[in-house]
Amino acid sequence: MTERLAETPAGIARAAELLRAGELVAFGTETVDGLGADATNARAVAAVFEAKGRPRFNPLIAHYPDPAAAFADAAPTDRARRLAGAFWPGPLTLVLPRSAACPVALIASAGLDTLAVRVPAHPTARALLRAVARPVAAPSANRAGRVSPTIAAHVLHEFVSRIAAVLDSGPCPVGVESTVLDLTGDGPVLLRPGGVTREAIEAAIGPIETSQPAGRLRSPGMLASHYATALPVRLNATRVAADEALLAFGSPLAGAAATAPRSLTGDMVEAAANLFAALRTLDEAGSKHTLRTIAVMPIPETGLGLAINDRLRRAAAPRQEPR
Ligand code: TXA
Ligand code: MG
Repeated sequence: MTERLAETPAGIARAAELLRAGELVAFGTETVDGLGADATNARAVAAVFEAKGRPRFNPLIAHYPDPAAAFADAAPTDRARRLAGAFWPGPLTLVLPRSAACPVALIASAGLDTLAVRVPAHPTARALLRAVARPVAAPSANRAGRVSPTIAAHVLHEFVSRIAAVLDSGPCPVGVESTVLDLTGDGPVLLRPGGVTREAIEAAIGPIETSQPAGRLRSPGMLASHYATALPVRLNATRVAADEALLAFGSPLAGAAATAPRSLTGDMVEAAANLFAALRTLDEAGSKHTLRTIAVMPIPETGLGLAINDRLRRAAAPRQEPR
């Protein structure tokens, strides 16, 4: 049985105790729900890969309660310190060289000599991380390749009875994952757009690259197909058919069989927060009414729109079977 824990001191203490004992515990962050394991315990980390059905070559982010703890395990550069000052705690993940004394199990970073570190902003997540007092490896709490969860019910839907506990801290306010920035090369490289916008990062440290250097897949997790919904996704819809579900941005197109109850408003923050829940709702409508596709209205490619469009393009990409 999966324990459902409330975000009370007792619930947080129980979640920490389970994590320290090597169990898997899902917990909310400001971005999406994570599937946590003691990052220093290789068996616990292996159990995360197993539970998710995640390819072994896709490394995990280590989560810390504060920047000092993160920088003890991953050696900071000047830029890393500046970014931590500007955006931590918050939805930014930094890829840095592992420090010599780094206790994070090698399987967590999939054998790479780098480590992705993040200090989440959610007060419950921070309280949990303080109580665990060890780095916590936490991918999004979904089966590999699927849509990320933003409420505890989504997590239970995929993992009930397969994990020890879920710490329920309500809906995740940001709704898309953290921005992943690689600081191990000459210049910073944006590996995954996310909750901190590119514009905000560039305002702090100057221009960043997005393209991946040829021949080296720097973020192995960034498979083209991800966030797979059951229904195929059709992007940039300017009209919608009667056998389609609609993900609206701004005022909805008329004529769809189903529209997400809270369609994405023209407000990007709101749109990001509702994105994954809306995709799940439309999938459910699709299986109930045998719909053909989820049609998605165009979303501007600025600010959080970069992260939203990135997730939607992956949802629309031809499917690869997760290994
Ligand atoms: O918002 C988030 O980041 C959430 C919450 C739970 O913190 N976590 C999350 O984890 O999205 P996950 O595992 O679903 O995505 C982590 C991404 C993957 O694309 C992975 O390939 C990349 O970070 N990554 C992790 N470690 C890396 C490393 N050492 N080098 C390059 N990319 C790395
Ligand atoms: Mg994920």
